[in-house]
Amino acid sequence: MASAVSLENIRKTYKSHMLRIKRTAIENLSLDVRENEIFGLLGPNGAGKTTTLKIILGLVAPNSGTGHVLGKPLGSKSARSRIGFLPEQPYFYGFMTAEKALMFYGHLAGLDANTIRKRSEELLNLVGLPQGSHLTLEKYSKGMLQRFGIAQALLNDPDLIIMDEPSSGLDPVGQKEIRDIIISLKDLGKTVFLSSHQLSEVESVCDSVSIINRGTTVRQGYLDDLLEVKGVSLITFAGANERAAEALVPPAKRVREENGRISVEVDSEKIYEIISMGRDLGFELQSVTPFRKSLEDLFIEIVRGEKI
Ligand SMILES: Nc1ncnc2c1ncn2[C@@H]1O[C@H](COP(=O)(O)OP(=O)(O)OP(=O)(O)O)[C@@H](O)[C@H]1O
Ligand SMILES: [Mg+2]
Repeated sequence: MASAVSLENIRKTYKSHMLRIKRTAIENLSLDVRENEIFGLLGPNGAGKTTTLKIILGLVAPNSGTGHVLGKPLGSKSARSRIGFLPEQPYFYGFMTAEKALMFYGHLAGLDANTIRKRSEELLNLVGLPQGSHLTLEKYSKGMLQRFGIAQALLNDPDLIIMDEPSSGLDPVGQKEIRDIIISLKDLGKTVFLSSHQLSEVESVCDSVSIINRGTTVRQGYLDDLLEVKGVSLITFAGANERAAEALVPPAKRVREENGRISVEVDSEKIYEIISMGRDLGFELQSVTPFRKSLEDLFIEIVRGEKI
């Protein structure tokens, strides 16, 4: 797969006029996003996520470093016309209906009225907003506004969609709806670049991630590779209780019991030993899979390693 976004050794400093000092927002940051993948940029507040997105969009020029977006050098206008952007806190004219607002933004993007009408119908459908509604945007809930923002970002049929914290402030249902839209964008062949704090969202939608802190990359790669724990497997049994399960440690590394079902973390070479012990204890084998830690586990590991 070709690269949709690549950044190499980017550095960005902001001048503080009051104190006459330079503050480094991004330091030596590199990343690579493949076409048609969902890429997550993760990091705590102030890590440099929004600054990175602005650099990719050509809204902010880096002090040094190079990069390409959709095959063009950073800041190129022809690449910009193929990017859709959902900002961190989008603002829309509240007195307009969704269709009126899409017509307004479509004209700004240089589209003709027929194209905008056709695209609006498709996009409102895609993001799950009603057609022909008289409801103006000021009466929308936060979740509806966020879905409208995605429709607006897709008006020019972009190849790359950049979203700054797309689920921030949404309830679990709203978050799930945004997740589903992001996945459907990938199915349409688009590349999605999102920034997020929400580890579970990133874990469930992203193919690859970059974790940054204080403007520098701490960890990056495909999620499957980052979360895989080599040489460790997960065995689940039904019909077990906690006390019986304790009999498996050792040789098991860890046992978790939930509603009569236990999950056993074990070094892969001890799988057969555990299965036979479980059978002797009267447990019913359910599954054996490679063990995968959660993104939260990875984060905590990084924090404990004092890298954040
Ligand atoms: N226009 C600006 N002028 C001066 N400093 C800025 C400017 N924009 C960002 N910064 C600083 O750069 C650093 C990175 O900010 P940025 O907004 O990129 O972080 P972020 O990861 O998006 O944070 P958040 O999670 O809070 O949105 C911060 O220290 C911030 O204060
Ligand atoms: Mg931000």
